[in-house]
Amino acid sequence: MAAASDELKRAMPYTTRYPELGTGPIDVAPLIDPDLFELEKEKIFRKTWLLVGREEEIPEPGDYKVRQIDVASTSVIVVRDKTGKINAFHNLCTHRGNKIIQEEGAQTTGRTRSHLMTCRFHAWSFSTDGKLHGVPKEENFNKLDKNCLGLKTIHCEQWQGFIFINLDKTPEKNLVEYLEGMADQFAGYPYHESTVSYRYSTVLNCNWKVAMYAFSEGYHVPTIHAATLPSLAKIEQIDYQCFGPHSTSALYVPPVAGMQPTPATGNLGGRLVTSKQHGPHLDLLPEKINPERRTDFQFEFPVFFPNLVLHLGAGNGYPGMTYFHHQFWPLSVGQTLWEGTNYFRPPKTPSERVAIAHTNALHRNAWLEDTSTMEDTYAALCSGALDEMVLMDEEIMIRNTHRAWHEYMGV
Ligand code: FES
Ligand SMILES: [Fe+2]
Repeated sequence: MAAASDELKRAMPYTTRYPELGTGPIDVAPLIDPDLFELEKEKIFRKTWLLVGREEEIPEPGDYKVRQIDVASTSVIVVRDKTGKINAFHNLCTHRGNKIIQEEGAQTTGRTRSHLMTCRFHAWSFSTDGKLHGVPKEENFNKLDKNCLGLKTIHCEQWQGFIFINLDKTPEKNLVEYLEGMADQFAGYPYHESTVSYRYSTVLNCNWKVAMYAFSEGYHVPTIHAATLPSLAKIEQIDYQCFGPHSTSALYVPPVAGMQPTPATGNLGGRLVTSKQHGPHLDLLPEKINPERRTDFQFEFPVFFPNLVLHLGAGNGYPGMTYFHHQFWPLSVGQTLWEGTNYFRPPKTPSERVAIAHTNALHRNAWLEDTSTMEDTYAALCSGALDEMVLMDEEIMIRNTHRAWHEYMGV
């Protein structure tokens, strides 16, 4: 690849640091081609590490979470056993294949009784380490070897309290190897203190990458969020880095002269939340996030391949760190389950409860704006009239995800 000219380096200072990304347009077919979607199931979603929850969701031995993963045609049980270890299994009884735990929606949490999970069809029971425990009328089977009939295991590892699974029988890399530089870059954020979570979700009529890409750049903020986030009119998106298939950048918001906060924001920022203990808590950020400790830092938003975008804030206006993430679960080539989840430190006062409610409402409004373009984008791309799309420098994370997608897919 020819070295970038000085002019190109000025126009695309971040992108040209990673010559392997190129600077030309990217192809549209991966966003709309049904055959490629079928290939993604095997080449991406059965090969990569996927976030399925937080350790705080299953704090005690016997606690479980069930996660439906349509793109891999399975449902997964993540359960904490008697020793405190977290295990993952296919939600499938080894007798005749019934689901062991019935989900309520895409995600369900619960607690086992007596550390046993019992299939409701013929009452085979399994312990939380996956072993087959009890079989009614066991003597009527032909030499049943219970040791070979435990639940079907799925690889499960944790990083910073995030629970990931890998559906590959023999994953090429362990989780930390897979996360590459992200594992170190984002370690040490006080994730475990923000134990209160709220989730919005909906099914979007678009390809999962159309949705993922819309959350992977700040270029759209001054236009799409002009109504809900007018103070972000002059955002700076910087601190880009790529780590293999993953990438990151941060948003800073220099104050806009003459900009007045909305009445609600003014109340929350100026009256309800007045103590010095309220953020931003720049000292609590890991040193590689906002390395200059700028006070106009908004959040860092690392993009984890394939389907996770994390947002790490400094707890502006709140007495603890607040973070959130988006996940994009493919249902078909043109349908995606989007989930946006906010995490807060447990509130201690009425004003903190109001601050949480305000943040949830603000995010809901902003996310409604974000998701408002996705179905139109996908519908228009399906016309086939656009073969390629051009990307500017701040869309480098899309370019990196797109490059990783081609590498995993081998096409
Ligand atoms: S299918 Fe589960 S006990 Fe028979
Ligand atoms: Fe947005």
